Amino acid sequence: MAQDPKYDLPTYTPIARGLHWLIALLIFIQLPLGFYMSYRGNEMPSVDENGKPVIGVWDALTGYLYSSHKLIGLTVLALVVLRLLYRLTRGAPRSDPTVPPPLTGVSHLVHWGLYALLIAVPVIGYAAISWGNYLDIFGVHLPAVSEKNEDLSKQAFHWHEIGALLIIGFVTLHIVAAIYHRFIRRDRVVERMIPKRVA
Ligand code: HEM
Ligand code: HEM
Repeated sequence: MAQDPKYDLPTYTPIARGLHWLIALLIFIQLPLGFYMSYRGNEMPSVDENGKPVIGVWDALTGYLYSSHKLIGLTVLALVVLRLLYRLTRGAPRSDPTVPPPLTGVSHLVHWGLYALLIAVPVIGYAAISWGNYLDIFGVHLPAVSEKNEDLSKQAFHWHEIGALLIIGFVTLHIVAAIYHRFIRRDRVVERMIPKRVA
């Protein structure tokens, strides 16, 4: 249903947009990085120093990828906390009045689900490396949450992966919704989040 392209709709502030796109960029790097480094460290066939076939490659590159993943993950956590504080104190522009209320409700659920996952996944990742005692980033030692516990670490890594898969699901829904608004419904929802020049 085509809308009048000129109807007035307030946009997100430059700070809200800047944080949105920075976090989105880091997530698009973080997800494939997580899967690739985990494959490299736990599943990729290789040979040890005696020429015997082994599973998993633990060389400098694998260590570098793991450190980068932890660093990007903690950066995402800090940025999402900032974004949430900003969101909770400054609010968001009012919803597009031309969108039916049930659809606005679903979009709010997806947004809050994403915030919850973007906090839970890195926190669980941190707990997992703490319980498993892999607490360093490029040689810098991080504080432990409690003493070492291999079982808890394994469970936390399991939930870390489930959480990451849920992020993929929610982000996919979110992008499909953006495409629907932009190209099918042709309303102004996407313009709220992209810089004026591009819109
Ligand atoms: C939003 C932030 C994060 C996302 C989206 C994310 C995503 C992922 C993904 C997709 C994997 C691969 C899962 C698998 O194949 O088992 C993974 C593994 C891993 N993540 Fe994260 N992660 C995040 C934050 C963190 C943080 C903050 C840490 C630690 C400080 C961390 C530590 C790890 C470790 C050590 C693994 C490897 C597990 C293994 O080798 O089995 N992640 N992460
Ligand atoms: C990892 C990627 C992404 C994450 C984690 C993410 C997360 C979010 C969150 C949490 C909000 C709610 C903002 C608020 O009101 O507080 C939001 C809004 C929005 N996002 Fe994303 N986003 C991502 C990628 C994208 C992409 C690729 C697009 C465009 C294709 C997009 C377009 C939008 C738009 C248009 C809004 C505003 C929706 C509205 O006003 O109702 N996002 N995003």
